[in-house]
Amino acid sequence: MTEQKNLLITTPIYYVNGSPHIGHAYTSIVCDFFTRFYRQHGVETFFLTGTDEHGQKVAQSAEQEGADPITFCDRNSALFRNLADRLHVGYDDFIRTTEPRHKEFVVRMWQKFEERGWIYKGTYNGWYSVRDEAFYDESEIKDGKAPSGAPVEWKEEESYFFKLSAFTEALLEWYEKCPEFVSPSGRLNELKAFVKGGLTDLSISRCTFSWGIPIPDTNHVIYVWLDALFNYQSALDTPEKFETFWTNSRVMHVMGKDIMRFHAVYWPAFLAALECTPETLSVAAIEKACHNMRIVTHGWWLSEGEKMSKSLGNTIDPCELIEKYGADYVRYFLLREPSFGFDGNFTKEGFINRITGELINNIGNLCQRTFTMTHKNCGSVVPTVKVSHPLLEQDPRVEMLELMKEYKINQAIEAVLSYASKANEFVQESKPWALFKAGDQAKGEEVMFILLSAIFAIKEAIAPVLPEFHARISEVFGNQSFAAGVKLNPLPKVFEQVAA
Ligand code: MSP
Repeated sequence: MTEQKNLLITTPIYYVNGSPHIGHAYTSIVCDFFTRFYRQHGVETFFLTGTDEHGQKVAQSAEQEGADPITFCDRNSALFRNLADRLHVGYDDFIRTTEPRHKEFVVRMWQKFEERGWIYKGTYNGWYSVRDEAFYDESEIKDGKAPSGAPVEWKEEESYFFKLSAFTEALLEWYEKCPEFVSPSGRLNELKAFVKGGLTDLSISRCTFSWGIPIPDTNHVIYVWLDALFNYQSALDTPEKFETFWTNSRVMHVMGKDIMRFHAVYWPAFLAALECTPETLSVAAIEKACHNMRIVTHGWWLSEGEKMSKSLGNTIDPCELIEKYGADYVRYFLLREPSFGFDGNFTKEGFINRITGELINNIGNLCQRTFTMTHKNCGSVVPTVKVSHPLLEQDPRVEMLELMKEYKINQAIEAVLSYASKANEFVQESKPWALFKAGDQAKGEEVMFILLSAIFAIKEAIAPVLPEFHARISEVFGNQSFAAGVKLNPLPKVFEQVAA
């Protein structure tokens, strides 16, 4: 990836067939974390999210409610937007695939495929899963189910096809050439195995229902994944935006591991197909389309050690969690708990332990006592002193930046915690309360300066995780940069206790 300054970060667009769950909240929080983190480091970032509203699954869910599809989509899309807002997920655009800007764009892409000879008409005979909105090869079906465990049905219907089979070799060459295209690296092997099995042409239209983008002059609608993937471009709806955040930008597509195939196989193929014809296809077309793109996958959330499912009744409602604990705590636990890229386990005990041990007792305690002592002994002002100390030399963000090269989010948070622990140890060793009591004002002020500076560094480093905490502590510093003489405002409660 070349060192371009701009960056597009995307969440998958969420299906609106149901209300959001913790998995959706997680992907959005991760992207928001990335966005805030890279912006801190001067990268101009555009953060895109939205909802995926077409297809059979959404049509069926609307029908079950007896609702008209667009009314149904309007209502459920708003739930996703609302969840993002409540979590302080600061997207720059929220695209809906039912918007004219998107539909027009996708039809134009369809026409380009046709012009370049990528589409032909045939009949699809094979397995389809409505839940995954995916076609599966016979060899992938186990015990009558898709690899995801979703039920499948046999389909025979007229369909337009995309010549995906032409991409087998070129994609394999691309994965060899750019192994960092997909992360974590282990997933690349899974991908290679799938492609090595030989790609078959992809059915890209449906004609047995109508809830989709109509293909002009036919009775077909566009296959929901072809429709959905192009949201990443259709949302960049002015030439300037497209130029800045696509053509001259790095692109980070973040998603759960379950939908890697669509992003690491179909999406590069679609993009490359816009650049060439089946006759001129080579790895160069994929490279041209994808050299600045990364497919960043995360694991799944389990609930108390089990796979979440409606039938087990163990799904976690992110809105209830926010209601009970507040957005910062939810963000903290989700980002802190799993090794990024791998599965995480949501347990109530784990949640309470992390919040209490790491936020309240470590960072919270440091802030509480430092500010209290400054108010009491230093006239609520950052003291003017000349002092040196390792805590002043170190900035946790430097270590975080290094760890983030491999998206090690949980370790990056650990780096902040370990810095906070060192500051707490320094309080214990230097005993500022005793210094003040003994009348050693100068020494006491030196200690307070070091601690206040450490708190300032912590609130900056942790800002991408805890935006509310960042705002609270910034307010104490009068929303100013750290400097001697800055007057401190009274301290509100740093962190609320968590109820079991
Ligand atoms: N609409 C498609 C994406 C189209 S993108 C061009 C889709 N939507 S989804 O709503 O089903 O899933 C969205 C995201 O939620 C995916 O990244 C998926 O991995 C994630 N999760 C769904 N359940 C999850 C967990 N239990 N745990 C973590 N994330 C999971 O797929």
